[in-house]
Amino acid sequence: MFSSGKDVLSRLTAGGYISELVTATTIYLASRLHKPILLEGPPGSGKTEIAYAVAKAMDAEVERLQCFEGINEEKAIGKFDEALQRLAVETFCRSGSVEWETVKKHLYSDAFFAAGPLLRAILSPRPCVLLIDELDKVGQAFEAMLLEVLSEWRLSIPKLGVVKAHTIPFVVLTSNEERRIGDALRRRTLYLRSDHPSPQREAVILRLRTPGHNEDFHREMAGLAKALRGWSLEKSPSISEMLDLAQAIELLGYEGITSEMRDTLLPLVAKTEADRSKLLLRDGWASLIYDAHQYSTEASEA
Ligand SMILES: Nc1ncnc2c1ncn2[C@@H]1O[C@H](COP(=O)(O)OP(=O)(O)O)[C@@H](O)[C@H]1O
Ligand SMILES: [Mg+2]
Repeated sequence: MFSSGKDVLSRLTAGGYISELVTATTIYLASRLHKPILLEGPPGSGKTEIAYAVAKAMDAEVERLQCFEGINEEKAIGKFDEALQRLAVETFCRSGSVEWETVKKHLYSDAFFAAGPLLRAILSPRPCVLLIDELDKVGQAFEAMLLEVLSEWRLSIPKLGVVKAHTIPFVVLTSNEERRIGDALRRRTLYLRSDHPSPQREAVILRLRTPGHNEDFHREMAGLAKALRGWSLEKSPSISEMLDLAQAIELLGYEGITSEMRDTLLPLVAKTEADRSKLLLRDGWASLIYDAHQYSTEASEA
């Protein structure tokens, strides 16, 4: 159990996740108030990773429900194992004296139920982080189903009954904002924005993940990230793409970013034809490098 926001922050940092005190304090409060956190922001901004980082900090297991269009309750909660049920019926029949009421009761017990991530999370004997990832991909009916478990900490399962939580998991809901999450669910959460980091924080993340480079390089890359995001591209690069870029530069044996590297690095930076054309414009890349250099000073502040 966490003792304060500062405690959360230092444990996240020790585990390699670079956060801020406000975020860490929200995580602390969510863990004490038994509230889910809802993280909204662009892809690649560290939403999924935070669930794993919190789990590491709590020494907890992660149960992950990856959402997708058309996901149903069976996928989330689980379902009766029909093959096992059939096998049991055959065995009962062979054994002779069959008391059907007893058989039926037995067949619809938890022994024949293959639990999904939601059920596993609330029945976990150990501390658990329940990650419900990319919730914006599901429909309203599925969201409504989540309301019960996330506020009452129990699940009503047809033919099995009501299952109450053994442990209350730490719940992380994430959304890339492709669809708006309903207000009923929002009200039950503590809300966190997951935006692109400041150059200073990005430089620290880059340093952590690509320790082979020197600090000037990390600052330059953080400056480049800010410059690219200010370029009104169709698809601005996320932290994970900046990490790819840093690794690529390392592999190619370059020390920093120069104008000559444009064509080699373009596939890592521009992911649509429009963005590619924009960066191929005369002086486009050169002025980007210039901006990156200006912004890199922000990465060294503080
Ligand atoms: N605050 C952070 N500290 C350390 N690494 C981070 C941070 N944010 C993002 N990353 C890196 O970026 C990658 C992508 O993050 P991810 O959580 O998958 O993004 P999202 O779920 O928002 O799409 C992670 O694997 C991690 O390496
Ligand atoms: Mg994710």
